[in-house]
Amino acid sequence: MSRKLLGLRTLVTIIMMAKLSLSHAPFFPHPEDNFAEFSETAEVGWGSPNVGWRIAPALHIIVNGIHRLATIDTGSTGALMDKSFLPSFDPEEAEEGHVFYSSSKILEEGHWIPDIEIEYFGPRGVRIMSKTPVLAVERAVSCPQFNQTLHGHRCPKNATTGVIKRAVQQPYFGIGFGRDRDTSSQATPDRNPMINIVSINNVTIDRTKYHPGYIITDRALIVGLTSNNTQGFVMMDLEKGPNWEKDHRAWGGPKVSVAFNNETYARGSQGSLLVDTGVTQMYLKAGRQFQPDDAIKFAIPDESNPVVSYTITNGGPRNAMSPSKILNSTSLTPYVNTGRNFLTKFDILYNPIEGQYGFRFKGTGEEQFVKFHKA
Ligand SMILES: *[C@@H]1O[C@H](CO)[C@@H](O)[C@H](O)[C@H]1NC(C)=O
Ligand SMILES: *[C@@H]1O[C@H](CO)[C@@H](O)[C@H](O)[C@H]1NC(C)=O
Ligand SMILES: *[C@@H]1O[C@H](CO)[C@@H](O)[C@H](O)[C@H]1NC(C)=O
Ligand SMILES: *[C@@H]1O[C@H](CO)[C@@H](O)[C@H](O)[C@H]1NC(C)=O
Ligand SMILES: *[C@@H]1O[C@H](CO)[C@@H](O)[C@H](O)[C@H]1NC(C)=O
Ligand SMILES: *[C@@H]1O[C@H](CO)[C@@H](O)[C@H](O)[C@H]1NC(C)=O
Repeated sequence: MSRKLLGLRTLVTIIMMAKLSLSHAPFFPHPEDNFAEFSETAEVGWGSPNVGWRIAPALHIIVNGIHRLATIDTGSTGALMDKSFLPSFDPEEAEEGHVFYSSSKILEEGHWIPDIEIEYFGPRGVRIMSKTPVLAVERAVSCPQFNQTLHGHRCPKNATTGVIKRAVQQPYFGIGFGRDRDTSSQATPDRNPMINIVSINNVTIDRTKYHPGYIITDRALIVGLTSNNTQGFVMMDLEKGPNWEKDHRAWGGPKVSVAFNNETYARGSQGSLLVDTGVTQMYLKAGRQFQPDDAIKFAIPDESNPVVSYTITNGGPRNAMSPSKILNSTSLTPYVNTGRNFLTKFDILYNPIEGQYGFRFKGTGEEQFVKFHKA
């Protein structure tokens, strides 16, 4: 993965300009010019008090005519809620499904109800609407050994370690990407509400003016990428995920390199990065076991051309980006879930069309533990 400075469209423009004016010095537009022709966007303020990312962000929603609050999780893909919150449906007609949270080991079992329209509303009357299948949850169970390939969509009886009883469970909306680790996964882009927005303020979006994608800031979730709202972001190219042939929005997670103490970044320690609004802790798998007081250094996407680099300690002195704690990841490959404290210093951006992930620094620049390497 390399840092993307120029989109294909701008590259074509440059080539055309070069042909037109060979005698002039080359002109390099700013990266945000990728979005120059797009103007439709909406900023939906969080419906949760966002004090230093101590709690997971949430948005006010209307579903089936009722006002509720939905948790917004970048660590999973797909919206779910108790089946009683959704219009009644015939389970025979709906696709059997699940969402599994690898951090908590909770398996949500249910059926995907197609074409559910959800309205989100923020301060000053801003409204947007998504249209996706929504998982109508029938049962939530703790299922530590869950393996989709072996078990399909239901936790086997002998693997269930408890039913999670949550009668008035808050709707939980996974808006992340790169969570589909195989082609049978249900964590696919068609189920991601924030890349399937259909209207803004009750006007159907115009695909020539609306560029799908979202930005997460301290204040709001912003949908629709424009030159204006992408200013200050440095973009990284994403690699194709396992479902990319089926849906060209199915990108893999960004990359990260990890180094312990004063060691150099080990080969083999480069893995997948997840900035997860759903958890405060970090999950780490990086080539070797980590020990108490280890200084752990991250370079995103890698040490030779980093966009972001930062350091935390495992249990030692804390900084704003330190997770509440660091846990062993159960991932089979190198992997870092930063936990949501990462968002105290960076806004993040996801562009599902060209496959880009972006960071924008919001610190003072005087922090010793973090560096933003602007293009
Ligand atoms: C971008 O921001 C400028 C200044 O705030 C504003 O004048 C302009 O209309 C905005 N452009 C778009 C496309 O929203
Ligand atoms: C799930 O099971 C399949 C088939 O046995 C196996 O190949 C795969 O590694 C398992 N996945 C995990 C995460 O254990
Ligand atoms: C559950 O039962 C299946 C089939 O009888 C067996 O293969 C599997 O190992 C059991 N799993 C556990 C966690 O006991
Ligand atoms: C949105 O538009 C539809 C169709 O034009 C209309 O029936 C509905 O009342 C409008 N809703 C709001 C909140 O303006
Ligand atoms: C890292 O290097 C510095 C300077 O050489 C040294 O003071 C420090 O103790 C080292 N830290 C570790 C964890 O080895
Ligand atoms: C991670 O797992 C190893 C054993 O595989 C264990 O020694 C270590 O204490 C664990 N670390 C944490 C933070 O749980």
